[in-house]
Amino acid sequence: MTDTLDIKITKTTHSRLQETDFTNLVFGRTFSDHMLVADYADGEWKNFEIVPYGEIALSPAISALHYGQAFFEGMKAYKLADGQVSVFRPEKNAARFNKSAERLCMAELPEDLFVQSIAALVDLDRDWIPAQAGHSLYIRPFMFATDPYLGVTPSSTYKFMVLTGPVGPYFTKPLRVKFETHYTRAAEGGFGYAKAAGNYGGSMLPFKKAAEEGFDQLIWTDAKEHLYVEEMGAANVMFVLDGKLITPSTRDTILDGVTRDTVITLAKSWGVPVEERRVSIAEVVEGAKNGKLTDAFGAGTAATIAPVGSLNYNGEEYTLSDPSTREFSQKVLKTLDDIRYGRTTDTFGWNYIV
Ligand code: PLP
Ligand code: COI
Repeated sequence: MTDTLDIKITKTTHSRLQETDFTNLVFGRTFSDHMLVADYADGEWKNFEIVPYGEIALSPAISALHYGQAFFEGMKAYKLADGQVSVFRPEKNAARFNKSAERLCMAELPEDLFVQSIAALVDLDRDWIPAQAGHSLYIRPFMFATDPYLGVTPSSTYKFMVLTGPVGPYFTKPLRVKFETHYTRAAEGGFGYAKAAGNYGGSMLPFKKAAEEGFDQLIWTDAKEHLYVEEMGAANVMFVLDGKLITPSTRDTILDGVTRDTVITLAKSWGVPVEERRVSIAEVVEGAKNGKLTDAFGAGTAATIAPVGSLNYNGEEYTLSDPSTREFSQKVLKTLDDIRYGRTTDTFGWNYIV
């Protein structure tokens, strides 16, 4: 921990809190009163400020807009049973923020500045954290290149910003999912492991096509052969197969998810065997056919634990068990909620109290 970060705070003169409908939240549409902004220039981070949420003026020549030097993070803050406010495992996101920065040739941000920025913003807008079950304050830190220069070269200036907004569950029903065997999210040597904006831009057409075919989500497969499972939409994917928790091992093409790590840690603490390795579509499909696939879900900050209702491979549909009867993911969900909402002891030290 270095010195306390000096953040200039300008509070809004008109809070939108009272006019916000917390019973009808759509993910990513509602923003709380304030946002954080900081600048990188001359080789250092400066001008950390919290200001009212609103528009910002930018040059149309910034390289973020032209060449995609931009990335983000996603995390959540919760209101605990005793009234305290906590952010879930922010140091993991701070570390991943810098992995993304390094891969995109952008400025790294010292982890304590990342965490302190988020804590200050969440603290100021703590009344925006919804109290209902399954709800939280989504936190969106991001960084983008701001040199007004069209040369294809790393920018020398950047902006770090953080937005927050109240959210409910991202998915509300078991998902109808297909294995994507044409489009690719990430390839070896690429930047799938970074939370680069471009990874998400490239996923929209495959998503749109999958939705037109009636699917809620798709499972990305490897770029070379489309035979191995990678991730599910904007979440990691996990299976319980033959009594073992199985998930693709992290590599160039896979985002090292905080939720994924959390689920693995819980599983190990319960004595459930865990295998992080390449996972073939064939073994998942075989498990769906012979009943040994007893659980399948996406794991992510926005997605939380999102049950897969059915899997489709090359037009064959495999319906899985009713999610409410699944032992493993139900136990994960309950345990995670108990920790995140402060209903049980935080034995792993995952809640960062603001
Ligand atoms: N994979 C992708 C591509 C994602 O966008 C996300 C969402 O953040 C995840 C996995 C899950 O990561 P985390 O659990 O850290 O949110
Ligand atoms: C998150 O879970 O934080 C994500 O980044 C998913 C988002 C792209 C909706």
